This record gives sequence, structure tokens and C-alpha cells, in this order.
Amino acid sequence: ITWHETSVTQQAYRENNGHHSGVIWFTGLSGSGKSSIANELNHLLHERGIHTYLLDGDNIRHGLNADLGFSEEERKENIRRIGEVSKLFADSGTIVLTAFISPFQEDRDRVRASLPEGDFLEVYVDCPILECESRDPKGLYKKARQGQIKGFTGIDSPYEAPKHPDVILESHQMDIKSCAEKLLILLEDKGWI
Ligand code: PPS
Repeated sequence: ITWHETSVTQQAYRENNGHHSGVIWFTGLSGSGKSSIANELNHLLHERGIHTYLLDGDNIRHGLNADLGFSEEERKENIRRIGEVSKLFADSGTIVLTAFISPFQEDRDRVRASLPEGDFLEVYVDCPILECESRDPKGLYKKARQGQIKGFTGIDSPYEAPKHPDVILESHQMDIKSCAEKLLILLEDKGWI
């Protein structure tokens, strides 16, 4: 197989769209608020006419990654595929937002390394597990504590907090809108939008 260069380049897509493209990668425990914040930011960007797309853990596991469970190997494959899909979106001039637990630093670093420098922003949605557990929006922590779900992140499966995230959002201290607005300002400062 041979790589083909396309005549419409990433730069051409970006020029058409009038903004930068790249990946905003949210990581955090289940219930930390990553999907809600990503959704709010996506909305704010969309309102401004920015070309965006949101890839969300639960939704992707309904389709593209419906064959994957939650073993370490399957989580790695989940993130590998999302990384590849994200690259395609970024290549098409789109700002892609991803909301996956993505518990392993190595996997997140691999996605970062696969993109040009500066086109990947790691956003750590930092929320104490006790707070996530008290929110328990899907009742999964309760099931994990009762042993009905095995290998639940933060209970009996590891979560590696980012070592050098681009942004930390303490979602137990800031509301969703404030978190999204903080990211919006960062995107302006970085010249993405
Ligand atoms: S991962 O670790 O990145 O592959 O996970 P992800 O694709 O983001 O999927 C996380 C959502 O799946 C539900 N769920 C579980 N999470 C963690 N551990 C186990 N064992 C598990 N089983 C199901 C859970 O609803 C997660 O959704 P969020 O939105 O993170 O709460």
C-alpha cells in the first residue's frame, strides 16, 4: 500500500474554515464531568461558527468500538482508534473534542506524539473520586462497589492522572460553563480561534 498525498491539504481546509484545527483531549474519571464540559465547549465553539466535532466515550462504544470491553488491552485499542479518528478530523480542518476516560498516560502520549507539535491539548478534568462516586449519574460506582461490575476505573482498575496536562479543570470547584469558558479563552490565546 502506498500513501497518497491529496491535493486539498490540511492547510487549505484550515484556510477555508478560518481557524486552526487540532485535538482537545479530555481525560478524567467516570462522572468527573468531561462529557458535560466537552459538550458545553462544543456548543460555544459551534455558536461562533467554528468547525468542530465531539467524540464521546459512551457514543463511540455504541458503534465504531462496539466490539471493545474494558480490559486494559481493550481500553488501549479504544484509545488507539479514537486517536486515529481524531487525526483524520484534525486533518480535515476540524477542532475535535474527545471525552474518554483514557486512563493510561502512555496511550494519551501516543496520540499527542502522532500529531504535529501544538495540535493536541490534554485537558485533565480533575475531580476527587469521592465526588464522582457521590454524583454517580449512571449508578455504576454503586454497582462496582457491590462487585456487579468488575474492573471499574478508580475502584479496581487504574487511572493515571496526567503528568503534564495543558489544562487542569477542577470540576468540583468550578461549574461546567466556567470550565468551558476557561478553555475558550485558552483557544483564543493559542490562536486556534
Ligand atoms: S476508556 O477507559 O477510555 O476506554 O473508557 P471510555 O471509552 O471513556 O468509556 C467509559 C464509559 O463506559 C462506562 N463504563 C465504564 N467505565 C469505566 N470502567 C468500567 N469498567 C466501565 N464499564 C462501563 C461508563 O459509563 C463510562 O462513562 P463516563 O462518561 O466516563 O462516565
